[in-house]
Amino acid sequence: MPLVLRRRAAHLRERMDDPACEPETLRATYTRFGAVNRLFSGWRTLYHRYLRPRMGSDRVYSLLDVGFGGGDIPRALLCWAERDGLRLRIKAIDPDPRAAEFARSLPPSPISFEQVGTAELVQQGVRFDFIISNHLLHHLSDAEVTQLCQDSAALGSVVLHNDIARADLAYLGFAALTTPFFRGSLITPDGLTSVRRAYTPPELRAVVPSGWRVSRPYPYRLLLSYGL
Ligand SMILES: C[S@@+](CC[C@H](N)C(=O)[O-])C[C@H]1O[C@@H](n2cnc3c(N)ncnc32)[C@H](O)[C@@H]1O
Repeated sequence: MPLVLRRRAAHLRERMDDPACEPETLRATYTRFGAVNRLFSGWRTLYHRYLRPRMGSDRVYSLLDVGFGGGDIPRALLCWAERDGLRLRIKAIDPDPRAAEFARSLPPSPISFEQVGTAELVQQGVRFDFIISNHLLHHLSDAEVTQLCQDSAALGSVVLHNDIARADLAYLGFAALTTPFFRGSLITPDGLTSVRRAYTPPELRAVVPSGWRVSRPYPYRLLLSYGL
């Protein structure tokens, strides 16, 4: 349990969530998300543990990434699946028009990047084999997490929401590891705010509907899953 960061600081706002955030700084932040995710998010292991075993070469599988930010995680998943001879059709959504604009500025890809929310997809009645998100939960209020769970379960059979688990050492470690390397972006200040906004596993368990599981895939991380 955190001793100093005892309570979730849900009143704090990340600077990237400010519509007035300086565009170049935001762009630098999206660009560097890939390095941060390779260091801390563990998607390669999650892919091998939970997604790859559920796919075969017999058909195309569909995946929805919620809150794509810089879009590096859906790109990495597509690349790993292709290397394994698997066909994955990916839609990535983010309600922030600046994320959509950043995705449009990148080299073309078969991934469909769209500025839309989960509620609109639920209304459309679409379904996916897999729903994922990374570093999304800590952006949300308790009520929004509950809604995300309901929308995710309506949209897909297997759901993985991967995020930071709040801990004092996560805060100190993130500051020490990122401060020298990510200047000119919001990676360090927003990352530290993210740790303070993050749930602990018991807090998240208290918020999510029944049928959902909260586990710790690595130290200082949590995984909210459904349908595993
Ligand atoms: C910290 S970024 C993470 C981006 C990316 N998933 C990653 O891990 O690098 C959080 C993203 O979630 C998006 N977001 C915030 N609230 C959302 C919501 N209710 N539904 C979908 N995306 C949301 C933000 O616009 C932002 O791009």
